[in-house]
Amino acid sequence: MRIFITDRENKEHELVAEEGRRMMEIIRDAGLPVKAECGGCCACATCHVYVLEDWFTKLTEADEEELDMLDMAFDVRDQSRLSCQIIMSDALDGFKATLAPDYD
Ligand code: FES
Repeated sequence: MRIFITDRENKEHELVAEEGRRMMEIIRDAGLPVKAECGGCCACATCHVYVLEDWFTKLTEADEEELDMLDMAFDVRDQSRLSCQIIMSDALDGFKATLAPDYD
């Protein structure tokens, strides 16, 4: 399946995604600038993305841990998610998101 990630220069990247992997890993392994400092443990919020279009409602809801971490993130929007908490499945083929700003 494929996902489409827009970087901070507004360039869209088409990435191949495998079922069962964390979206953060796919973005990071493609060389896009997602820090993912905690390695996907839901403990850093440096994998923050904005989910585009109606894909947000196709995701399983964020759990308490993710919501707590988003509370500490910058520029959180209604469509914010942590990409390490999104597990790829066929239902997400064509998924679109934008990288949230990086403040370092
Ligand atoms: S990689 Fe740290 S919260 Fe997602």
